[in-house]
Amino acid sequence: MLVLPERPRRNRRTEAIRRLVRETSLTPAHLVAPLFVVDGDRERQPIPSMPGYERLSIDLLLEKCRQLADLGIGGVALFPALPAYKKDKTASEATNPDGLFPRAVSAVKEQVPELTIFTDVALDPYSCDGHDGLVSETGEILNDETVEVLARMAVLHARAGADYVAPSDMMDGRVGAIREALDVEGFHNVGIMAYSAKYASAFYGPFRDALDSAPKFGDKKTYQMDPANVREALREVRLDLAEGADMVMVKPALAYLDVIRAIWEISDVPITAYQVSGEYAMVKAAAERGWIDGDRVMLEILLAIRRAGADVIFTYFAEEAAQQLG
Ligand code: PBG
Repeated sequence: MLVLPERPRRNRRTEAIRRLVRETSLTPAHLVAPLFVVDGDRERQPIPSMPGYERLSIDLLLEKCRQLADLGIGGVALFPALPAYKKDKTASEATNPDGLFPRAVSAVKEQVPELTIFTDVALDPYSCDGHDGLVSETGEILNDETVEVLARMAVLHARAGADYVAPSDMMDGRVGAIREALDVEGFHNVGIMAYSAKYASAFYGPFRDALDSAPKFGDKKTYQMDPANVREALREVRLDLAEGADMVMVKPALAYLDVIRAIWEISDVPITAYQVSGEYAMVKAAAERGWIDGDRVMLEILLAIRRAGADVIFTYFAEEAAQQLG
C-alpha cells in the first residue's frame, strides 16, 4: 500500500459525504425562465429550432407562469413576438402603453405575483431593421437617440409591473438614463438588471427565429462585444455599476465562464448569466440523437454556470431543471 498523507478520494466515499462537502448549489430559486408572448387566444406556436419551446398567448402564458411558480422558479424574463406589420423604423410599438407586452407584464404581475418579472429593454423585437437601436439613413446604429426611447420603454414596463427592467441593447449610457427616468416617475423600487457583457455571438440564432428579429442588414458588432475580450467586460460592468445597475449579466453563459468569474472578482452586485437559445438547442439536438444524456448534461452545465460565479441563471431549461431538482 502507498503511504499517502493525502487521499482526496476519502471525501468522495459516500453520497452523504459528497453532499456534505459539495461547494456549489443549484435550486429552482436560482433560475429564470425566458418566455415569448404572442397576440391571440389559446395560441401556442412551437419554435422549430428550440424543441419543446413555444410562443404563447397571454392566457397560456399565465398557465405556464403558474406552473413555473409552483416549481419554485425564481422569475420569468418576458419577450414579445410581434408580427411584421407591427414593426417599423422607429420601433414605435415599443412605447405603446396598450401594446401586447405591457398587457402581458400586468397580467403576470397580477395573477402570479410570486414570480420576479424581468422585462427586456431593447428595440429589436419592434424594429423592422432587426437591430437593438434606431438606425440612421446611412445604416449607423444611433446611440443617444436609442437611449431616449429605452428610458421611456423602461418606465412603461415599470408601470406595467416589471420588478427589473433589463436593458439588453449594449448602448452606452443607457443604465444611467433608465435609472433617472424610473426615479423621476417614482419607480425607485424597480431594479435594473443590466446586460453588461453581452457578446456578438452566433449562439443567438434560435432566439432570432423565435422573434423573427435577425438584423436585416449587417451585424451587431458595433454594439455587442467581441468574443475575444474579457477586460472590456470589466469596463462595461464598472460603467453599469456607476450608473446604478442592481444586477449585471454575462451572455451567453457556457462559452464565457471565465468572464463570469472575472466579473465575480470585481463586482459586489448579483451576477446573472444567460444560457442562450443556441446553448439550449445544442443540448436538445444531441440528446434527441441519443448522443448525450440530455438531463444530466443540462444539470451539469447549469451547475458549472453557478460554480463560475453566477447567482441567477436565465435558461430555457428552467422548467425541466426544476422538475429534475424536485
Ligand atoms: C436582443 C436579445 C437577444 C437575445 C435576448 N435579447 C439576441 C440578439 O442580440 O439578437 C438572445 C437570447 C437567446 O439567444 O436566447 N435584445
